[in-house]
Amino acid sequence: MIVAIDGPAGTGKSSTSKAVAAKLGLSYLDTGAQYRAITWWMLTNGVDVNDADAVAAAAGKPSIVSGTDPAEPTIFADGQDASGPIRTQEVSAAVSAVSAVPEVRTVITELQRTIAAGAERGIVVEGRDIGTTVLPDADLKVFLTASAEARAARRSGELKGKEATDLGATREALAKRDQADSSRKTSPLKKADDAVEVDTTELSLDQVIECVVTLIDKAA
Ligand code: C5P
Repeated sequence: MIVAIDGPAGTGKSSTSKAVAAKLGLSYLDTGAQYRAITWWMLTNGVDVNDADAVAAAAGKPSIVSGTDPAEPTIFADGQDASGPIRTQEVSAAVSAVSAVPEVRTVITELQRTIAAGAERGIVVEGRDIGTTVLPDADLKVFLTASAEARAARRSGELKGKEATDLGATREALAKRDQADSSRKTSPLKKADDAVEVDTTELSLDQVIECVVTLIDKAA
């Protein structure tokens, strides 16, 4: 069972995907964490993330390793635990530019396909282009959406206590990232034609999880 869960930031992709995978005994892959990890590696290794040629030249350098246990997903870049640093605003602000570079997408997409192929009991893979590009033959494709207000409120709640947050600034940063992710040339954020769209604006996390589990039961 291969499940692709795509959608913009703040729609509940990660919480939903992890919970569904844990409930059904499947592996879990956070592809955003992989793009964040390569971005973090570039920022800490002196690569100018706004120079697409420099990013392309460095794309194959770091080894990015993802742990796929939904109870404890991990992400390492060149052997260093990147799970904390990839969530900073610095990485969030730079990740769209890095992930728009085709050479980066080639490296990371290959990694994602290898991980999915090796998941014996199946896997829930969350991202932006899983249903359209990475795993177009997935057994189920879900596209999560939510209003801009709901997304900003959720993301603000997650950041609270970790970094100074402001609802307006969070909303603006999300909109900027979504615009960049949807308009890039290579593999943009887009609903696959055969994906089921779920608007999570008015739904609790439990309701979204239940909805996806029901869709998986139907697809099995
Ligand atoms: O899911 P998350 O918000 O952590 O993703 C961070 C960024 O990684 C996205 O804004 C996007 O630029 C990039 N990404 C991508 N393709 C994916 C997953 C994430 O380009 N499949």
